[in-house]
Amino acid sequence: MAAFILMQGDYVWLDLKTGREFDVPVGAVVKLCDSGQIQVLDDEGREHWIFPQNATNIKPMHPTSIHGVEDMIRLGDLNEAGILRNLFIRYNEHVIYTYTGSILVAVNPYQLLPIYTPDHIRLYTNRKIGEMPPHIFAIADNCYFNMQRNNKDQCCIISGESGAGKTESTKLILQFLAAISGQHSWIEQQVLEATPILEAFGNAKTIRNDNSSRFGKYIDIHFNKRGAIEGAKIEQYLLEKSRVCRQAPDERNYHIFYCMLKGMGPEMKAKLGLGLARDYSYLTLGNCTECDGRNDLADYSSILSAMKVLMFSDTENLEISKLLAAILHLGNLRFEARTYDNLDACVVVRSPDLLTAASLMEVEAKDVMVCLTTRTLITRGESVTTPLSVEQGLDVRDAFVKGIYGRLFVWIVDKINAAIYRPPTCESSAIRRSIGLLDIFGFENFFVNSFEQLCINFANENLQQFFVQHVFKLEQQEYNLEDINWQHIEFTDNQDALDMIANKPMNIISLIDEESKFPKGTDATMLYKLNSQHKLNTNYIPPKNCYETQFGIQHFAGVVHYESRGFLEKNRDSLHTDIIQLVHSSRNKFIKQIFQADVAMGAETRKRSPTLSSQFKRSLEMLMRTLSVCQPFFVRCVKPNEFKKPMLFDRELCIRQLRYSGMMETIRIRRAGYPIRYSFAEFVDRYRVLMPGIKPSHKQEDLKGTCQQIVSARLGKQEDWQIGKTKIFLKDLHDMQLEIERDKAITDKVILIQKSVRGLKARTNFLRLRSSVVFIQKVWRGYRSRKNYQIMRSGFIRLQAVCRSRKYYRSYRITRRRITLIQARCRGFLVRQTFWRRLRAVLTIQAYTRGMIARRLCQRLRAELQRRLDAERQRLAEEEQLRNQMTVRRAKAQAERKHQERLYLLARQQEERDREEKEEARRKKELLEQMEREKEQPVDHSDMVDRMFGFLGDSGPLPNQDGQAPAGFEDLEQAPRGEEPDEMSNDAPPLPDEEEEDLSEYKFSKFAATYFQGLSTHTYIRRPLKQPLLFHEDEGDQLAALAVWITVLRFMGDLSEPKCQVVLNDGSEKIPVMTKIYETLGRRTTYKRELQELQVEEEKRNSVRHKLVSLTLKRKSKITEEVRKAAGIITIVAFPLQMCTKHRRCSANLDKTHFCNCSVSVK
Ligand SMILES: Nc1ncnc2c1ncn2[C@@H]1O[C@H](COP(=O)(O)OP(=O)(O)O)[C@@H](O)[C@H]1O
Ligand SMILES: [Mg+2]
Repeated sequence: MAAFILMQGDYVWLDLKTGREFDVPVGAVVKLCDSGQIQVLDDEGREHWIFPQNATNIKPMHPTSIHGVEDMIRLGDLNEAGILRNLFIRYNEHVIYTYTGSILVAVNPYQLLPIYTPDHIRLYTNRKIGEMPPHIFAIADNCYFNMQRNNKDQCCIISGESGAGKTESTKLILQFLAAISGQHSWIEQQVLEATPILEAFGNAKTIRNDNSSRFGKYIDIHFNKRGAIEGAKIEQYLLEKSRVCRQAPDERNYHIFYCMLKGMGPEMKAKLGLGLARDYSYLTLGNCTECDGRNDLADYSSILSAMKVLMFSDTENLEISKLLAAILHLGNLRFEARTYDNLDACVVVRSPDLLTAASLMEVEAKDVMVCLTTRTLITRGESVTTPLSVEQGLDVRDAFVKGIYGRLFVWIVDKINAAIYRPPTCESSAIRRSIGLLDIFGFENFFVNSFEQLCINFANENLQQFFVQHVFKLEQQEYNLEDINWQHIEFTDNQDALDMIANKPMNIISLIDEESKFPKGTDATMLYKLNSQHKLNTNYIPPKNCYETQFGIQHFAGVVHYESRGFLEKNRDSLHTDIIQLVHSSRNKFIKQIFQADVAMGAETRKRSPTLSSQFKRSLEMLMRTLSVCQPFFVRCVKPNEFKKPMLFDRELCIRQLRYSGMMETIRIRRAGYPIRYSFAEFVDRYRVLMPGIKPSHKQEDLKGTCQQIVSARLGKQEDWQIGKTKIFLKDLHDMQLEIERDKAITDKVILIQKSVRGLKARTNFLRLRSSVVFIQKVWRGYRSRKNYQIMRSGFIRLQAVCRSRKYYRSYRITRRRITLIQARCRGFLVRQTFWRRLRAVLTIQAYTRGMIARRLCQRLRAELQRRLDAERQRLAEEEQLRNQMTVRRAKAQAERKHQERLYLLARQQEERDREEKEEARRKKELLEQMEREKEQPVDHSDMVDRMFGFLGDSGPLPNQDGQAPAGFEDLEQAPRGEEPDEMSNDAPPLPDEEEEDLSEYKFSKFAATYFQGLSTHTYIRRPLKQPLLFHEDEGDQLAALAVWITVLRFMGDLSEPKCQVVLNDGSEKIPVMTKIYETLGRRTTYKRELQELQVEEEKRNSVRHKLVSLTLKRKSKITEEVRKAAGIITIVAFPLQMCTKHRRCSANLDKTHFCNCSVSVK
């Protein structure tokens, strides 16, 4: 495991060790580290599992690298990975500028960011670097104010790959300078307007950049003593002339051709014989004539207006257009192969293009044909003409075209310079200051690298050397300022490589040059010479074998292999004499002017004319001289991806650019010295944890001493660290050592804090738990005890109850026995008493009865005796009578016989009477028995009433109805109908005395029994009635009465309030009450008729009913009569109603019942 402890959320460097050239460790954050493995999430969003055995793959990240810093020199992880991650995280936040010491790194955003507004210009004006966040304006501002403050020329070296943003940065600086110099002068406008012209002729669409500058430039802006722009000078380097004749797929020729064909007026086009872009083979080789995001039409008018500003005359404009048109026509020439004298030859097909091209260049078409198909060689004063093959012919044509375009471009730059450059006068040179902006191609390493790449990389080697010198100088300055001994600090620079390429005798450039001038020199001989001269140089990589044509050079940014073929031709860059002759023959002054130098030279001089490399070397030397007297600023442009897409960061592409940018040199120089520097306060605050008892920096007085104390205690006095005036200088190793110790110390402290906090937390938790447990126990025990107590208590209560019950039971039984005994005694006594009383009564009754019987017998005997005596007296009388008539004896016998007859009659009568008496006795006995039986039967009051009033008949309770009189009233029935009422009243049983009248007998029970219909009794029933209690003749009244009853029931709360249709029934049958009412009414219609009959007779007759009414309601009969008369029916107004309503409120239910009964009765 690594010597550090990883925790979740820690940042680490993850080295994936892919072995790829441009792969560096990637930043990652620890997601999981609980299990044996560690899960990390890298900056690209990929997850990785690190096994403990691979733990060397991860290194902790320095805190400065976690969230990024504005100046990368402050990065603890000052290496490629640290720089790359810093740029990456800032780029993701749309922050494209970052410093590395004095270098500004600008990552191309490929989108317009709102950071170039006038407000930003104001914000960055007159600020020190580092005061504001990194910005290209900060660099421009420092250039400007350093120039004014230090009175020293400034330069800004902007480098980077194609499409990295060099030209945009240059333009931004120019704009800033124009804005803050604040004059808005004509010359300032001219300087700014130079850009569109240069871009039109020198820029083209490539696959990497839609506006790629195909030349290097150095713009030197001159300021007067007030700081206003006074003029400028533009230097151009190495225009890519081959683009005029050849474009890679998806690339275009220079913008000016397309702009011209789009923007030029038709007459002008006709004059120049021009058509559309697609008509010209020079414009269609890349199969791309349009460029997204560019408006060729609008660009053309801005080019023309810029040309006007920069004093291009109309004639010059026309001449330029003519030459451009001629180039296009020349490109359309067709060559046909021929053979002359066994030699390959060719002819140019006569075509309008040839004629137009010739007329535009103002030469003979014939001459053009000859020039392009033959070559004249002058040897020993004789000229020999040889034919050219088609390929050679095409080469000559292309060389001619490139020659024209290259010279035209140089002329245009010169023309611009003529407009904007004011050569310094004697006195002005002393005060004139300048800012130079170098927009030059960065280090290039393609699949196939040619002579141009060698030149470019040579230029970059020079710039790198300049840069290294500058950085080292800065380092020295810092060491000197801090009084640090730096003598032993050494670092490697690229001087050796530079020496090999251009400085030392027999350097590569001079060898190439020499070989170019050597008539028999070829690329192979050149390569041979290079090999033989430099094969031992470590910076030179010779071809692997004699067939190989590539040689390699170890540049500061890496090895580049150059293809030697074509080197000399490109280096010579000379035009054939025939072409110069052709130009010479032209009547056009402009073309002659641009070829002036070539024409002026003789053929021999032309051969010795400076080669491209020597020219380039010379201009480079001049440039370096210029730069060396300037205070430099460096802008390194980085292209984040190859697709011109915003927010896409290709790590490998960026690391390659960082390496090629030479920025690592800064780092190397730092590393050679003391790369880690802390101010004393920073150091104390960071490392005081290593020494217990050291106070924070703001409480310290001797910070330097404290630093020394810490560093010597921890690193040892012998180690190579130094203490300056304000800073402490450490080697990487020391920093790592200190960081590890600090990490350990902090981890120890963290663990201690964690331990204490966890302890505290656990204890608090425990205490809370314990108190909760105790509380729960307390509550539980209480609950259980209460429950137990309740059980026991109820047990005791039961026990007590049982005991008490036993006690009471026993005493009860004793008492009961005693009471039973007393009862028995009492009953016995009473029974005996009753018995004796009854016995006495029986005896009395018997005595009386016997007496009565005896008396009756006596009476009977007396009557018998009387009758016998009467009969004897009669016999005697008769005997007396008869004695007069007959003998005594016969009279006596006669009388005796009649006497015997009478006795017999008497005996018969006596017998008859006995028999009747017996019959009477038997009947009475039977009656008694029946009554005895009936007494046994339960008494049904309604039956009784029915029986009593049944004589009124089934047809209704109406008077004067025929029918069986109830028992006991039979005698009434027998009364003759025709008898007078007074006679009837005579026969009526005597009315009870008024005073003795028992009012209690007129209670509801009696009234009800008397007047209520059907089986209704006086008792209150809790259900609806089938019929009104009293009889009503009118159906409406009957219904009203029933309704009143229902209301009464509701009033009493015995019937729920109606919801929908209230169904009333008697409980036994499910017939709605209304139906019943109607039925009843139907049945009652007969009553009505009978009633009316009755009423007629009523006055005349006294019915039993009437009697009864007057009997029962004698006191109210008068009212009854009146009401009855008024209503026409028999209606009883119940007095209790009046009483109730008058005298008291119905309070009891019984009262209510009475009240209701009455209400129902009331009409
Ligand atoms: N600072 C920037 N802001 C926005 N876009 C930029 C910036 N720098 C460069 N670009 C974009 O990148 C393209 C290429 O930039 P350019 O300066 O022409 O590259 P170079 O000169 O390095 O080849 C520009 O056309 C522009 O679209
Ligand atoms: Mg450019």
